[in-house]
Parts: sequence; structure tokens; C-alpha cells
Amino acid sequence: MAERNAHFTGQKSLFCLFLVTAILFMLSWFFVWRSTGRPHFIDHSLLPNSKIFATIDNDNPEPRIQSDIGPSIGNAEDEVEAPPKKNLAECNPNKVFLKVFMYDLPPEFHFELLGWKAEGESVWPDIRKKVPDYPSGLNLQHSIEYWLTLDLLYSEFADSLSGHSAIRVHNASEADVVFVPFFSSISYNRYSRVKPHEKGSKNKLLQENLVKFLTTQEEWKRSGGRDHIIVAHHPNSLLDARMKLWPAMFILADFGRYPPNIANVDKDIIAPYKHVIKNFVNDLSDFDSRPTLLYFKGAIYRKDGGFVRQELFYLLKDEKNVHFSFGSAQRDGINKAAQGMHSSKFCLNIAGDTPSSNRLFDAIASHCVPVIISDDVELPYEDVLDYSEFCIFVRTSDALKGKFLINLIKSIGRDEWNRMWKRLKEVENFFEFQYPSKEGDAVQMIWQTVARKVPAIRMKVHKSKRFSHWNGSRERGPRSLPLPRNFW
Ligand SMILES: *[C@@H]1O[C@H](CO)[C@@H](O)[C@H](O)[C@H]1NC(C)=O
Ligand SMILES: *[C@@H]1O[C@H](CO)[C@@H](O)[C@H](O)[C@H]1NC(C)=O
Repeated sequence: MAERNAHFTGQKSLFCLFLVTAILFMLSWFFVWRSTGRPHFIDHSLLPNSKIFATIDNDNPEPRIQSDIGPSIGNAEDEVEAPPKKNLAECNPNKVFLKVFMYDLPPEFHFELLGWKAEGESVWPDIRKKVPDYPSGLNLQHSIEYWLTLDLLYSEFADSLSGHSAIRVHNASEADVVFVPFFSSISYNRYSRVKPHEKGSKNKLLQENLVKFLTTQEEWKRSGGRDHIIVAHHPNSLLDARMKLWPAMFILADFGRYPPNIANVDKDIIAPYKHVIKNFVNDLSDFDSRPTLLYFKGAIYRKDGGFVRQELFYLLKDEKNVHFSFGSAQRDGINKAAQGMHSSKFCLNIAGDTPSSNRLFDAIASHCVPVIISDDVELPYEDVLDYSEFCIFVRTSDALKGKFLINLIKSIGRDEWNRMWKRLKEVENFFEFQYPSKEGDAVQMIWQTVARKVPAIRMKVHKSKRFSHWNGSRERGPRSLPLPRNFW
């Protein structure tokens, strides 16, 4: 009996060995197939729109890369076996790039607003020599369009695009989206005063000209603007043009000053503010070394929704270890706020005259667990990021109930706070704007958010073509589009 069993087990292990070998063989065959032949198996050419997510090995993004695998390299067999000399996606063969067509808008719409002067033919600065500076201070909060534009320019000469999500293409038919490089926030911040001898402000004039320019472009007419990206991060930027350019995807700070049919969370994208408080590098603090329990510094009396701040001030002002004060954003104000946030466990974010504020991103950079009291706030990349892992959300109606807020905050213990603090340190990179942009920072996260919306854009564009196909004479520019009612 025992012998027969042994024999049986022997057979079984032989069979297992065979199975493992077979699986290994199949796996290796699969990897070889993936690294060499796959694009030939999956024929993207039948589905033009699948170019959105065509892989880079299938679709060389730039002609100069193709020319590197020039015809002079040996015979055909060598070519198959030798890896391309300059494969941008070497580290990640499945890397997908968002292809962005960017208008060569005259410099008055972008870098000249920062004080840069165009030389020669190009409308763009040669950022390999010098990157024009963005005005400092609070202007920087809304500098989103500047970082996105720089990233597209950079994609044209970068040695490696590893960690990058978008590339600039010059043929609009090959692009997934069309980027409009109008620096709308700095245009509002710096040029919205009307000078004595002028009819309107430069900010107004630029917006008029932008509408004129866009609505006459082939790219705009083709999609009715639906595949265009326009950045209007300052809540008051693009005030005049937004009502005409609404079919486009806006990149905004929040929807507070937009009618829901002009901008909404389905069509548009929320980008973080660039925080003004410096990053807390080498943060060795812990629950006990941050003496202040709850911190808030800001304008206390605000118009519109800001009455909550005033109410909370009276509820919290006598609580122990709570810092709640007036503060302005002057230079010293920023330093004081940095000290305050670095030495607090929790930082309050209360709706001001808009649902969003830079304070949230300052708190994240300070690793001070944000307590968000803003019922209408929309947050960046929330489709992939769970803010409840590192933020506390409190409904306004609850926050205004007697001791509700302070009791809630006090009930959060060391372990839970530690977990959120650790998570803050993991996610803070998602909110960093920098040049050159790096993997997983705000610039890349924004492009990835755009990429996730591309299929929905395609669908809208296709639907809009249903009846126009056999009726070629009809203009499909935005002027002929009625204002939306139940839009999206
Ligand atoms: C742009 O791309 C389209 C589609 O791939 C192609 O048919 C067209 O020839 C290209 N245009 C230029 C100028 O390369
Ligand atoms: C196109 O459609 C519009 C609206 O349905 C119609 O008024 C117009 O006459 C059509 N034009 C042609 C050329 O069929």
C-alpha cells in the first residue's frame, strides 16, 4: 500500500514539474511576443480613436526617434533583434502618452504677460536657455497654466520622458486634446485695471481676441471646442470668455462662480493651488511634538459663504490649544502661518468666498491634517484619490452645532492621526508644481486626469456629428450652439 502510494506521488510530482515547465515556457513566449510582435497582432488602425491609448512602442511620438532606427543599421534581421536605440518608454513598455496639440498663440496671450519679450520668429521662449519667471507671491497660487505649458514645451526636447504623461504633437488630427495656452490667471491678476485712455482692460481685450481666434480655427470647428482645454484657475479669470468657450474642458480651482451648465465636475477638471507655504522637509514631528490641536489663520469676516468662519470663531475661540486668528497673506503672514501649521495637528479649511482655498494645499505641504468644512468643495483627482484617508470632512451644519467640531477633533487619537500624517507625506507630491515636472507631481496628475476624460470627450464629439455628416453646410462653431440647459 505504502509503495503504491509512493509510486503515485512520484507520478504526481513529475506531472507538476511538467506543468510548471509548460507554464514557464508559455510565460516566456508571452513576454517575447509582448516585447516584439504585439502591435502587429492588435491592429489599431481599424479604430482611429484607439490612438488615444496607443502604446508608445506602437506609435513613435516624434519623427526624430524614428530616424534613430535609421535604414543604415544592418540587415532586416538585426533590426528586429536590436532594441531601438532611443526608446523613450524603455522602462515602461505599456506607457501611454496623452497627445496634446498646443496652439502657437501670439506671445501676448502667454509669456509676454510675465514680462518676457519674444525674439525672432518663435512665439515660445527657448526654455533650454532660460525659463521665464512667473511673478512671485500670491500670484503663484494660480500659476497652473504656466507649468502645463512648460511641460508641453519640455516634451519636445527631453532626453527621457519616463514619468511623463503628455507629449506635444504638431498635427492636430493626431492629438487627443487641444491645449489653449492662455495665461488667464496672471492676465486677470495683472491686467484687469482699465487705464485712463483705454476702453477696456487688457484682460478683457485678450479674452475677446481669444474667442475670435478659437472660433475660427479648424480644430475648434471640428469638435465644437469639446476637445479643447482652457485653464482658468483664478475664480475671476476668463470672466468674459467663459460664457462663449464653455464647450471646452476648463481647468479650475472650483465651480463656485460658474453656473452649473457652463462648468461642472463631469466636464471639467479641478487642479490644486500651488501652495505658498514651503514644504515641511525632514518632518520628524509627531502627535506629541505638535502642541496646537487645531489651527486656523485667515480672514475671518468674508462675504458670501464666509459667515461660517465668523460662527466658528465664536465657537472655538476659548477652547484650549486652538489657534484661530485673523491673518493676512503678507510675507510675514505666510511665515507665521507656516510655523503655525508645522506645529499643529489639525488645520481648518473653511469655505471662504469660494468653496476652495489655498489653505488646504498649504496644510498638505505642512503635513497638518486638514479639517474641511466646505459643503460644495470639489477636490483634485478625486476619481483616483481617497481624501478621507488624510482629511477630516465635517458638514457645515454639524460644525455649527455647539461642541460638535471640537469633540470630534479631540476624539481622534494618536494612531489615527499618525496614519493620516503618514498618508499626507505619501500624497504631498501630487500637489507639487515644478519645472521640469517629475513623476507623480501635480502637472502629471493633471494630464492623467485629462487623459481619463478623453473617452467621454470622444463620445460627445462623435454624437455631435450624427446629423451634421449629411448636412455639410451647417457651421458647428459655438456661435451656432445654443447655450446649454441640461448640459452633460
Ligand atoms: C496629420 O495626421 C493625419 C492623420 O494621421 C494625416 O492624414 C495627415 O496627413 C497629417 N498631416 C500632416 C501635415 O502631416
Ligand atoms: C442643414 O440643416 C439645417 C437645420 O436642420 C437646415 O436648416 C439646412 O437647410 C440644412 N442644410 C442643408 C444644405 O441641407
